[in-house]
Amino acid sequence: MTGPVYVSAPLSGDRAADFAAACELRTGDGSAGLSSDRLPPGIEECVGLVCLLVDRVDRALLDAMPALRFVSSVSVGVDHVDVGALTDRRIPLGHTPGVLVDATADTAFALLLAAARRVAEGDRFIRAGRWRAEGRWSPDFFLGRDLAGSTLGIIGLGDIGRAVARRAAGFGMRVIAWTRSGREVPGVQSVDLETLLARSDFVSVNVALTEETRNMLDARRIAQMKPGAVLVNTARGGIVDEAALADALESGHVYAAGLDVYEQEPLATDSPLLDHPRVVLVPHIGSATARTRAAMVDLALANALAALGGEPMPHCVNPEVYGG
Ligand code: GLV
Repeated sequence: MTGPVYVSAPLSGDRAADFAAACELRTGDGSAGLSSDRLPPGIEECVGLVCLLVDRVDRALLDAMPALRFVSSVSVGVDHVDVGALTDRRIPLGHTPGVLVDATADTAFALLLAAARRVAEGDRFIRAGRWRAEGRWSPDFFLGRDLAGSTLGIIGLGDIGRAVARRAAGFGMRVIAWTRSGREVPGVQSVDLETLLARSDFVSVNVALTEETRNMLDARRIAQMKPGAVLVNTARGGIVDEAALADALESGHVYAAGLDVYEQEPLATDSPLLDHPRVVLVPHIGSATARTRAAMVDLALANALAALGGEPMPHCVNPEVYGG
């Protein structure tokens, strides 16, 4: 396949040189997501797109890229891409499964521990000079929640959900899970969603964002959570209704939350989530370790190189485009 390939941000790593040698690269600066109303000049000539999760690959963007023959996303989640629209045009979509499992499960646990033990709140307390000013330490000072002996409910038992379950076992937690496929995992009790919400002291969201999971934890479901539970979301913001979560935190029904992902990213500076002291926020960095990001770039470029060479992508979301 010949023709320019648009890469949304500069990429480095072992495969980047092979990739640069294999095609004419046009590289964006990664400063703003690509979308049909933010198109770089010459995009209509590009046969390939290596995109990021901040890019919006929808029908309007595809209409603006008539020469497009493949898309490779440097992400495992593909909710930023209209997969049906690509499949209709027989355009393969690559993604990066597997390599970010441990990094993302670590982030879920970092948030769970930070929310349970009020780490960010304690940090702010000291930096604001309040510890010194109040001179306080007492047996009930900065009490949090125990992990050992508590129940963790995992929503979604894919690779990342199972990696979260392994970590929880090491912390002495009981693990229950809801999964659409009904998959059985040793050491994890499968339950329906209502039971999971009613029984869990901690809930970790680890499902992909799809039409089925969008707004899954809405006000009604959040009300079904065990009073005083902690919610952790490292999957996608659209799964949890943020306004309903903020209300539940305010009322005390939800004790604390640890969030990596948001309905709108970057998070608005007037989000009610910012008002609650026991919300721990990080800016969509679930997979952000140097080794993991290098592995993701490597897989994304392997997908793109395969497409350029006329081969099926090794990690293709819609392999049916290769059929018949
Ligand atoms: C991160 O959120 C990813 O989908 O890779």
